[in-house]
Amino acid sequence: MADLELIGFSKSFGGVAALKDVTFSCNRGEVHALLGENGAGKSTLLKVLSGAYSADSGEIRIDGRPVSIQNPREAMALGIGTVYQELSLIPDLSVSQNIFLGRIPRNRFGVHRRAALRSMTVDLMQRYGVEGIDPDAVAGELSLSKRQIVEILRVLATDPSIIILDEATSALTENRVLWLLDLARKLAKAGKIVIFISHRMSEVRNACQRLTILRNGSSVATLDMEGVDIDEVISMMIGRQISGYFPEKTPTVQEGIALKVRDLSHSHVLNGVSFSLHDGEVLGVGGLAGQGQAELLLALYGILHAKGGVELHGTAVHPTDARDSLRRGVALVPEDRAKQGLLLDFSIRFNISLPSLGGLRRGPLIDTRRESELADKYIKQLSIKSSGQEQPAAGLSGGNQQKIVLAKILAAKPRLLLLHDITRGVDVGTKKEMFTLVRDFAAQGGAVLFLSTDVEELVNVCDRVMVMHDGQVGAILAGDDLTPDRIIGASIGEHAR
Ligand SMILES: Nc1ncnc2c1ncn2[C@@H]1O[C@H](COP(=O)(O)OP(=O)(O)OP(=O)(O)O)[C@@H](O)[C@H]1O
Ligand SMILES: [Mg+2]
Repeated sequence: MADLELIGFSKSFGGVAALKDVTFSCNRGEVHALLGENGAGKSTLLKVLSGAYSADSGEIRIDGRPVSIQNPREAMALGIGTVYQELSLIPDLSVSQNIFLGRIPRNRFGVHRRAALRSMTVDLMQRYGVEGIDPDAVAGELSLSKRQIVEILRVLATDPSIIILDEATSALTENRVLWLLDLARKLAKAGKIVIFISHRMSEVRNACQRLTILRNGSSVATLDMEGVDIDEVISMMIGRQISGYFPEKTPTVQEGIALKVRDLSHSHVLNGVSFSLHDGEVLGVGGLAGQGQAELLLALYGILHAKGGVELHGTAVHPTDARDSLRRGVALVPEDRAKQGLLLDFSIRFNISLPSLGGLRRGPLIDTRRESELADKYIKQLSIKSSGQEQPAAGLSGGNQQKIVLAKILAAKPRLLLLHDITRGVDVGTKKEMFTLVRDFAAQGGAVLFLSTDVEELVNVCDRVMVMHDGQVGAILAGDDLTPDRIIGASIGEHAR
């Protein structure tokens, strides 16, 4: 008998079976990984445990006793704390207010006490070793990584004994990832259960003692981490072998210059960035978190108004408006897909075709046949798992939403792609498809700025890599110099130009 057992769970959405008779169990004292492709049913299973979804059938037992979990409140009362894949902070409230939402201390006049709230937050942060976040900061103004930390703190504040982390590392910067892996291990050591979902095998290997694999809504196997063969785990996840994780890098760089940037500056985040990007080139953007990489993409797209010179195919432009950028053939895959990337209430088809509707017009009407062919093409190419192109984007798994963001941008046939960490939350098989799409885009003469937090990705997908440091270009690495070690070295300021 295990400490926590989920027995025989099934759950369908309309005609789609997300869970088919899944059984899953884990014990106090372990970090247990839940693995599977995008859409395998991981989040659905954990939402059943956290009371967010009610299942069609299945039984939960804690310490051998059947328990009933009908809503999140009942889950919380049983000590279950869930960090959901989608961020859910209220943007206008402060960090402290978000963490203690619904449990805010009030004085006898019913007014909440700001000072008490602040000191509770400071205590919580000290207890878990969180630094660099102001309890009074407005949540909506924090970076994605900090917002994710606040989500985690909100769960820790309820002192749970079963902690669910659904891709909680995917939005974190590198040292915060290490912090969370360490915390997961410590919580387990203190006798708690930690259920850990991630598409990064290195994290799973680092933190977890056992793992369970889901495929297409069914549980495939539960294994001990020790001695496990990761390639075998991957083929159990996707039901086939994948060979050669990265696509072959054939030279596609052309003479023509797609983008020339001179002395781009913005308050203290961009301090004079200059570089050129050729047609047919994938130029990586790397470095430690917060060195101006994100701002560079936003400035080139016109969301951030920076000073300096920008030339697109030889013509000087002043990017100040996203719509103008799209018209010029510049497209951005943003960091925060929920906020900037998708219309969640609309269909997959509408989301994919939205930026290209102009080109799909026939007279005053949209050519729906071509619109639907376009959607189909990307649904196949990126193996987007759905009940069909009419399904609203909101019902897709996190990774499948990310694929739609890339699809809609490619469908608009841009000439310059600005990509912010496109593989975040994407499973291994699909990562490969995404890399291939990016290389194909370059082979057809397109230019790409490829921001990634993964050095292996940078080395294997890009022609050159620009490492940013303190709002400047620290180094540009190419050829034999383009190695993970050199990227890391340049990130911490070695070989600065
Ligand atoms: N609210 C919903 N409405 C309709 N379908 C849904 C809903 N939630 C999940 N599904 C479907 O259930 C299946 C499993 O989704 P789930 O979110 O559990 O996948 P996942 O394993 O967490 O994937 P990812 O790694 O991409 O997060 C998918 O086919 C998804 O489209
Ligand atoms: Mg999920």
